[in-house]
Amino acid sequence: MEIYLDTANVDEIREAVDWGVISGVTTNPTLIAKESGRDFHEIIKEICGLVQGPVSAEAVSLDVEGILREARELAALNPHIVIKIPVTENGLAAVKVLSSEGIRTNVTLVFSPLQALLAARAGATYVSPFIGRIDDTGQDGSDVLADIMDIFRNYQLETKVIAASIRHPRHVLEAARLRADIATVPFKVLKTMFRHPLTDHGIERFLADWEKVIKG
Ligand code: G3P
Repeated sequence: MEIYLDTANVDEIREAVDWGVISGVTTNPTLIAKESGRDFHEIIKEICGLVQGPVSAEAVSLDVEGILREARELAALNPHIVIKIPVTENGLAAVKVLSSEGIRTNVTLVFSPLQALLAARAGATYVSPFIGRIDDTGQDGSDVLADIMDIFRNYQLETKVIAASIRHPRHVLEAARLRADIATVPFKVLKTMFRHPLTDHGIERFLADWEKVIKG
């Protein structure tokens, strides 16, 4: 399973890229809004330069023509850009056109297996089920992800599944167990994935013992 970073913060992306573990980035209007004062296109271009992999940038128009206009503008900025589009009738109509133009799409705000199936049929490159937000409703986000993975495997659909709205490392583990193609994780969750008390304790012990070796 690939790991993407779910952020628009270039400092976080730079750090995670240096760690060698992320291969893409996803953003959304809420994440862009957190980078107040910066131009949307400039942020996206800078992120593309850092990650050198797929970078999802969201179109906010609700009509087909508007989505297509935004998508073409964004796609022209950098070949790494993937257009994030919510799963609506107009959204999927736009996905179909963009797919025929070779512009990659990430169908977002997916909360059910049937929405994911529709996105795949329309030609989406990626589909993003929001695991955490499904959990928030009392339903199990992992069950929805499992159904999507089953359906996509049953019919060998080429659309890749990005487990999104990841809130904690357990979500990442569940996504990997279910063979999601990608999990997009917030920086805080990524850092938590490194941590284990026995690793910290082990390093302390090794260093203490090494001191004894040096001192003889
Ligand atoms: O990847 C989607 C993500 O940004 C939404 O996360 O925590 O707002 O549900 P959250």
